[in-house]
Amino acid sequence: MASAKKILLTGVTGQVGTELYAVLQNIGEVVPTIAPGEKFAGAALTMDLCDPNAITRVVHEVKPDIIVNPAAYTAVDKAETDRELTTAINSAAPGILAQLAHQTKATLIHYSTDYVYPGQGECRYTEESATGPLNHYGASKLEGDQAVMANGESCLIFRTSWVYGIIGNNFVKTMLKLGKDRPTLKVINDQIGAPTFARTLADITAMILAQGGRDLYHYGKTHRGVYHLVNGGETSWWQFACKIFELARLHGYEGAVQEVLPISTAEYPTPAKRPHNSRLNCDKLGEHFGLRPSHWEAALAWAMPQILRQMS
Ligand SMILES: NC(=O)c1ccc[n+]([C@@H]2O[C@H](COP(=O)([O-])OP(=O)(O)OC[C@H]3O[C@@H](n4cnc5c(N)ncnc54)[C@H](OP(=O)(O)O)[C@@H]3O)[C@@H](O)[C@H]2O)c1
Repeated sequence: MASAKKILLTGVTGQVGTELYAVLQNIGEVVPTIAPGEKFAGAALTMDLCDPNAITRVVHEVKPDIIVNPAAYTAVDKAETDRELTTAINSAAPGILAQLAHQTKATLIHYSTDYVYPGQGECRYTEESATGPLNHYGASKLEGDQAVMANGESCLIFRTSWVYGIIGNNFVKTMLKLGKDRPTLKVINDQIGAPTFARTLADITAMILAQGGRDLYHYGKTHRGVYHLVNGGETSWWQFACKIFELARLHGYEGAVQEVLPISTAEYPTPAKRPHNSRLNCDKLGEHFGLRPSHWEAALAWAMPQILRQMS
């Protein structure tokens, strides 16, 4: 395994960034960056992804071999009105990072979303499927993917879905918090996808970087492109919620929640439209890297005690 690589990591305070910060230490020297005003328990450089000059300055200062970019504007509903900021972070910044990575011969790892697809039917989208985002967040992420592919040379994009981590706000924690006091919860049952543990994303990223070894830049050129990366299987938000409470109770969770009722998307209107079908086919990841993420239920079972500990 290569050990002298320098890795510039964005979004280190986020769900995926936190996990990446831990596992990428096995690959090289990680230089974390944070948004202005953000706090991080350790040394980190400030790099505002809305500021192209700041991005350029930090990349030239650090001279990384690898740039890993999990940072994003992820507030899907707020993005509908906060369009300028969303576009700067999700569309423009990835393109700038790709351009700088290309100029400095660094490999870029970027993350994207199932929200780039139109979400109709019941097929599993492949990386070749037609895109067609339903909301501004999805459109901004798609523009980011396109900017990476237009400017990058050694670059991999991982499209994922329904992410939850130990830290940060996510569906698992929201359910556990609401279930503490409320005997009945209503959860959407007509959106299907794969919940994905942030650590799965970090582990697979680290394995792929390790596979690239000494000539990672060439490896990234050879495998350049978009890959789906989600935990295995599929479920609805309602089934996911039921499994969350089942597993939490095994670990001593004592919530007031007695029943979780399935509802339709129409019964829970949100500012941003969501896709009904978020199924992503991960065969390409297996074919290129020989890796297959664990089933979502196994990942959740592994994550649950850690999430409960963090929330206590
Ligand atoms: N969460 C999901 O369900 C989901 C689903 C599909 C795909 N994804 C994708 O997966 C990736 C990781 O998502 P996540 O869940 O880890 O997101 P997250 O927890 O919201 O973390 C996002 C990170 O980006 C940072 N950031 C935001 N604006 C910034 C700026 N102007 N300059 C520098 N940093 C900034 C945030 O810093 P602050 O804490 O200071 O804001 C935070 O550290 C993203 O590309 C996302 O689009 C996520």
